[in-house]
Amino acid sequence: MLGDMARMKVEFVCNDCGTQHPKWAGQCAGCGAWNSLAEEMSVPRELPVIAPAATPLLITDVDPLASRPNPTGIGELDRVLGGGIVPGSVTLVGGEPGIGKSTLLLQLLASWSGRALYVTAEESAQQVRLRAERLGSVRPDLWLLAETSLAQVAAAIDEVQPSIVIVDSIQTVHDPLLGSPPGSVVQVRGCAHQLVAIAKQRDLPVVLVGHVTKEGSLAGPRVLEHVVDTVLAFEGERHHALRLLRATKHRFGPTNELGLFEMAGHGLVGVPDPSHLFLGDRRTGVPGSAVAPTMEGQRPLLVELQALTMGAPPGVPARRTTQGIDGNRLALLLAVLQQRAGIATQVHDVYASAVGGVRLVEPGLDLALCLAVVSAITDQPLPSDLVAFGEVGLGGEVRQVAHAPRRLSEAARLGFRRVIAPRSAPEPESKDLRLVRVATLPEALAATGLIH
Ligand code: TYD
Ligand code: MG
Repeated sequence: MLGDMARMKVEFVCNDCGTQHPKWAGQCAGCGAWNSLAEEMSVPRELPVIAPAATPLLITDVDPLASRPNPTGIGELDRVLGGGIVPGSVTLVGGEPGIGKSTLLLQLLASWSGRALYVTAEESAQQVRLRAERLGSVRPDLWLLAETSLAQVAAAIDEVQPSIVIVDSIQTVHDPLLGSPPGSVVQVRGCAHQLVAIAKQRDLPVVLVGHVTKEGSLAGPRVLEHVVDTVLAFEGERHHALRLLRATKHRFGPTNELGLFEMAGHGLVGVPDPSHLFLGDRRTGVPGSAVAPTMEGQRPLLVELQALTMGAPPGVPARRTTQGIDGNRLALLLAVLQQRAGIATQVHDVYASAVGGVRLVEPGLDLALCLAVVSAITDQPLPSDLVAFGEVGLGGEVRQVAHAPRRLSEAARLGFRRVIAPRSAPEPESKDLRLVRVATLPEALAATGLIH
């Protein structure tokens, strides 16, 4: 029985992944995180999940339209969700405090048609009203509940009969029957389970807000990832206006789309033309800068990559520091430049970054990153109208990447005239674009004029 305190025993739960351990340990056996175990009162695992009794169905009898997404009215959010929010789905929006989660969801409610319930378990109803006025989200069908008790949330859903519920945040709602303190893994997971049951029972879309902190001091939303249908990560640097929204799990569509917002005085504004934004502050004629047409999901994006190099002091391993780029990838490319193209990278400290606060992991960036490094080492700028893309292999070969035609047309649209691309790249549609196809890294370097 849930309330039977005598049967509960103390155990240790990982704040990151939720793995349970009978004894304290410095490292979690489940995910390998250090110092993430916290003491918890354990409760019986089987929480009552009330779902309608299901009978076997023929796949042809299942109505595919029943789970069609409803557009939210926020274009960038709909892009990430693959069209909108599916009835009965549970979505977790995770991000660091202050990144803009509450703002985004209030804006969602502003454009939602139908009755909505916003459970504010962190801020008072007055605070939410003030913010909603700033965002233009005040409308007659929007109900607020300033409450942290899960039972009250369930009662309010019964009373209001909303067509969407937002719980802000899942770490601050709690159920006294679960024992542990609010914000603990047991509470977060237990409350989320019950909200999922409510969502499925009523075919009601539920959005949960989950704070993620770098220190992991709150039960990380990672323990919720398998409970919910969709996990959205809201990212960005707090001192930068750019905000990125990605789906890291999505049961109703692809997970590779990127939503882009800017935090403005009146809330979040979608960025429909990100390439313009990323290249806005670019200074041409500076060594160490290269532009790459990259892909984020289905959307091409031009980004500037920068490298700065300095002679490394003898006897000390050279430094490699990155921002927005994978550090291991940079190390690999520096080794390839050294061994396959004869560029003495090991005697240089290398700092490399993707400009604009984006984080990029796409292999299509390899070639432009190599060019930026060589441009920095030789102290010669690349031509200002040049872009480059292609994956670089360990043999120094330049490999093809997906969506070459889209990358080419985005480069042409933004006024670039020259492209260095893998051998397989198709002829560009734009007559203004001159394509140089290369098979190897040395060929690419020769084509830029940096190395003869
Ligand atoms: P918030 O949505 O409260 O973040 P979270 O719910 O993720 O903790 O956003 C907080 C930040 O956003 C805060 O620092 C102020 C800023 N902000 C704006 O710049 N413009 C706005 O219109 C709003 C509502 C917030
Ligand atoms: Mg908030």
